[in-house]
Amino acid sequence: MRGLSFFCLATASLYALAGMAFGIYMAASHDHMLAPAHAHLNLVGWVTIALYGFYYHAVPAASLGRLPQIQVGAATLGVLLLAPGIALAMLDITEAFAAIGSLITLIAMLLFAIIVIRNRVAAV
Ligand code: HEM
Ligand code: HEM
Repeated sequence: MRGLSFFCLATASLYALAGMAFGIYMAASHDHMLAPAHAHLNLVGWVTIALYGFYYHAVPAASLGRLPQIQVGAATLGVLLLAPGIALAMLDITEAFAAIGSLITLIAMLLFAIIVIRNRVAAV
């Protein structure tokens, strides 16, 4: 595994490590207030980005060119803004990071849909 798929799986596992450590901290402290931030670090960081990585590994032709790099870059920026952004929103500090992060995460998924559809022949 190399290139984009390696990047996705390597970073996704780091999000999982951080998300699980956060989960253990919540369980140990009996303070579940930031559970949605933990949930989305795991679901948008670990699960979603790992799925992108497995797709690029399964369909190598789809990982070629600029668009897949922009897609993974957007997904990475999205999770790095969204997960802490949810915590900041729940702490009533600011909603800006969650808002911008969620839009970038949405754009990353839109780009992924375009990449999957335009590579339908390569995927067969
Ligand atoms: C060491 C591993 C983990 C620990 C110790 C842990 C711990 C926790 C804790 C204490 C909560 C709060 C529960 C509540 O207030 O009801 C929670 C919520 C949640 N966790 Fe984890 N978690 C772990 C891994 C994961 C992973 C890998 C995922 C997803 C792939 C995940 C997804 C969620 C979700 C979606 C919620 C929100 C559930 C809800 O609000 O109903 N967790 N977790
Ligand atoms: C742009 C991306 C996303 C945004 C803005 C978003 C936003 C939200 C919001 C506002 C909630 C309600 C939280 C609450 O009631 O406290 C929620 C809950 C939830 N979302 Fe997302 N979400 C996104 C992506 C995802 C993805 C990709 C998954 C799964 C792969 C997911 C799984 C969940 C789950 C399981 C819950 C219920 C658990 C909880 O309350 O924390 N979300 N999401």
